[in-house]
Amino acid sequence: MDYKIAVVKGDGIGPEVVDGAIDILSYIGEKFNHKFIYNEVLAGGSAYDVYGQPLPRETIDACKIADAVLLGAVGGTKWDSLPSDKRPERAILGLRKELGLYANIRPGILFNALSESSPLKSEVLGDGFDICVVRELTGGIYFGERGIKENDLGKSAYDIEEYSEMEVRRIAKTAFEFAMKRNKKVTSVDKSNVLESSRLWRKVVEEVSKDYPEVELNHLYVDNAAMQVIRDPKQFDIILTSNLFGDILSDEISVLTGSIGMLPSASLGQGGKGLFEPIHGSAPDIAGQGKANPIATILSVAMMLRNSFNLGQEASCIEAAVNRALDEGYRTCDIARNEENSISTKEMTKVIKSYI
Ligand code: IPM
Ligand code: MG
Repeated sequence: MDYKIAVVKGDGIGPEVVDGAIDILSYIGEKFNHKFIYNEVLAGGSAYDVYGQPLPRETIDACKIADAVLLGAVGGTKWDSLPSDKRPERAILGLRKELGLYANIRPGILFNALSESSPLKSEVLGDGFDICVVRELTGGIYFGERGIKENDLGKSAYDIEEYSEMEVRRIAKTAFEFAMKRNKKVTSVDKSNVLESSRLWRKVVEEVSKDYPEVELNHLYVDNAAMQVIRDPKQFDIILTSNLFGDILSDEISVLTGSIGMLPSASLGQGGKGLFEPIHGSAPDIAGQGKANPIATILSVAMMLRNSFNLGQEASCIEAAVNRALDEGYRTCDIARNEENSISTKEMTKVIKSYI
């Protein structure tokens, strides 16, 4: 079959890690007889430099007609002083909204071979954890009304957190559906002891849970959740939460796995369309040096195969190859204990490819 993929390499280390992932994907295509057709488009700082805006219409259109989108990372110090609507980050938020990608799936898995890179003690880690954050992605405070007003006391700025029942219901459904394929446990994270929007969130999540009697549901306030993921990460299966809380908790969980350079993500909407990207940023400090870890992007491609193209076997093949590379001791500098023994982005890609 043919699959059309829009590719947004982005800024910083984005192009390096995406090249690695495409190399792996094309190899899977050869082995399993699929044709992946890539259409490279610009978004983020690199788009701003060419078009004067971070998310050109051409890019939105190309992503809309593609079967899936692969994205590296956007942003960099060069664009930090631009007004907020021109900043590279706007491109990601805009793409999520334009493509209707309301569900962000962020798996946080501790790879056995990397347990020593986790900041947690081995007695806390036990035999590892496997947490999947299901983050609402097109609502809440990142998309609410915002503004700056002047009054007698000077300037004041505001961003509004607002959720509709519909928005909560659909993301809750996604979380329960994923839970059914995993360990059947959903922890919904909110701040309903203080926020009205969280009280509605909790009510709707409870309603949706009635359709999934096999799934155990519990609720945590976000401050407690931030503590619990460090104290005992093994207690979690699915964490269902809002845009803002999910942004923060997923970074916290990523570091528990040893390196943010390891974690992939999928942003999904209605139908199979999805955008797949590593959860790390553009890492301008190491950009262009060929030493970025390509694993998060390679695992994002595996999520693309499984979630958008229904090619589970091919996805597992990539995941097994990544596991094997780690088990055999191959490390990029972010996960190496001794930097002299680390390998480059290209070398890591080559090793993973050789295990497919
Ligand atoms: C992420 C990033 C983005 C977000 C930024 C770049 C807009 O932090 O994907 O987690 O906040 O969603
Ligand atoms: Mg983030």
